[in-house]
Amino acid sequence: MSDSHHLRLGVNIDHVATVRNARGGAYPDPLRAAKIAEEAGADGITAHLREDRRHISDADIEGLMDVLDVPLNFEMAATDEMQRIALRHKPHAVCIVPEKREEKTTEGGLEVAREENRLAHFIAPLRDAGCRVSIFIAADQRQIEAANRIGAEVIELHTGAYCDAHAEGRFDDRDEELARLTEMASIAHGLGLEVHAGHGLTYETVSPVAALPEVRELNIGHFLIGEAIFLGLTPAVHEMRRLMDEARA
Ligand code: PXP
Repeated sequence: MSDSHHLRLGVNIDHVATVRNARGGAYPDPLRAAKIAEEAGADGITAHLREDRRHISDADIEGLMDVLDVPLNFEMAATDEMQRIALRHKPHAVCIVPEKREEKTTEGGLEVAREENRLAHFIAPLRDAGCRVSIFIAADQRQIEAANRIGAEVIELHTGAYCDAHAEGRFDDRDEELARLTEMASIAHGLGLEVHAGHGLTYETVSPVAALPEVRELNIGHFLIGEAIFLGLTPAVHEMRRLMDEARA
């Protein structure tokens, strides 16, 4: 399989840390989950160090940098504190996400268009440090063009609206969201951006997104960690990988 055809799977391990933190101890260990995901075929590990440290901790990031053989995709808000941490560790990739304290998860994409100047200055040192900078955005042409102007190399398209519509049985909306993702992936690729996608993906929703030829990487967490409760993490990752490969074939 040629490299451009291979769709990378980034496994997000945040919710192993959520379960650990429910009891405040050391178990289950997100680093162990990361290594199992890596051995099961993950092409990368994703972790989001939130401002409130509700799941992943600073020590987890340090540990991941030490133990991983695959690249770490460090998700972070565009704050000075997170920039300092990223510059200290210099992970392979940094994904800039919006963050609100009260949200359960990253609800929307980043408003790049409104904060173009600040974000351009914010990501420059990260790029200079050798981190591949990705911007997590809604499937919206304005945001894609702004992400391109600020010098991002990658955009990650938010698949949450598509997945929510599927889960709620709003199939017309789902198809509309998929059409939007399809069109925006093509526009972003045309601008020279590398296209990733993620949020809320499951076995039921992954295939049409995996089939988009411009998409190079999917980042998937919550569903896989949930499935791991029933199946174990290795079979859960294998099944996701199989569905991605099948969609890509
Ligand atoms: N991509 C980004 C940028 C995210 O913020 C998240 C959630 O942390 C994911 C992908 C993975 O989403 P999920 O956990 O719903 O699979």
